[in-house]
Amino acid sequence: MGKIEVLVVAPGYPTQMAVLAERYQLHRYDLADQAGKQQIIKAHGEAIRAVMTTGGGGFSESLLDQLPKLEIVACGSVGFDSICVEKCIKRGVAVTNTPDVLTNDVADMALMLTLATVRRLVPGMDWVRQRKWQQDGPIQLNTRIEGKRMGIIGLGRIGKAIAKRAESFGMEIGYFGRRPQADVSYPYFSNLKEMANNVDILVAAVPGGSETQGMITREVLEALGEHGYFINIARGSVVDEQALVALLEAGGIKGAGLDVFVDEPNVPEALFTLDNVVLQPHCASGTHETRAAMAQLVVDNLAAHFSQKPLLTPVG
Ligand code: 8YV
Repeated sequence: MGKIEVLVVAPGYPTQMAVLAERYQLHRYDLADQAGKQQIIKAHGEAIRAVMTTGGGGFSESLLDQLPKLEIVACGSVGFDSICVEKCIKRGVAVTNTPDVLTNDVADMALMLTLATVRRLVPGMDWVRQRKWQQDGPIQLNTRIEGKRMGIIGLGRIGKAIAKRAESFGMEIGYFGRRPQADVSYPYFSNLKEMANNVDILVAAVPGGSETQGMITREVLEALGEHGYFINIARGSVVDEQALVALLEAGGIKGAGLDVFVDEPNVPEALFTLDNVVLQPHCASGTHETRAAMAQLVVDNLAAHFSQKPLLTPVG
């Protein structure tokens, strides 16, 4: 019998890709141009039994429809908002993701963005590099982190890891979510606008998707106010990005630290010149260690599936 055929919509860490290439027949959809993609589906669509992808690569209903023998979509990201999960499950196709292994890195990014934005790391570096320190003397003062109130939207695994870190910096934590959580003592807000009104730093840590689409509205950001900061390590889709940019430009909020955007890799043009933002190219989980661990979960979920064992991290 030939090797099981796997469609690679988006690749994982090289070490694990080498393991997959040994075990399976990989079809590199990710490397093909449009015509090549069609060719792969035409030639192998009927035989493909697994898909590997990521949040960035996604997996669409139209592709699912072209893979009649598909059994599993192994997503190498924790977020699966770009994957047609409902349709997969309805068709009996399993979906897996990569929770836990990236939690600490993503929480680190949230704190890094918070510190860098509030303490104005980038303007400070520019001040040195542009020789303003020598020419103009000390840079303007910035804002203390200790004692600031951080409001976390979505106190899941990543939200909790952010809270733990923020506490160690002396911040006060509050959170908004669907319901209060029994295992934490942080104050719960059932109303997002009310929380925004009561914190200095608002952090988005909710999953993407239709339930959270645009939940951080202009009104919420206005409630955060001119002394408030917004940090996003979740998804660009959770915030009204146009309103965010307009408020950053007008001083309606003080600053933002953003790892994620609505239309990645495109970033609103205005953000290129604002000095009250810190921008990252969606790389909160982007360490060698974590990306390898995420890819290993893809390998292990595929192995479990094809040896009729329980999946390690199923979705849904
Ligand atoms: C990935 C992520 O960088 O896991 C997630 O949900 O957003 C990130 O860890 C991204 O999905 C890769 O495409």
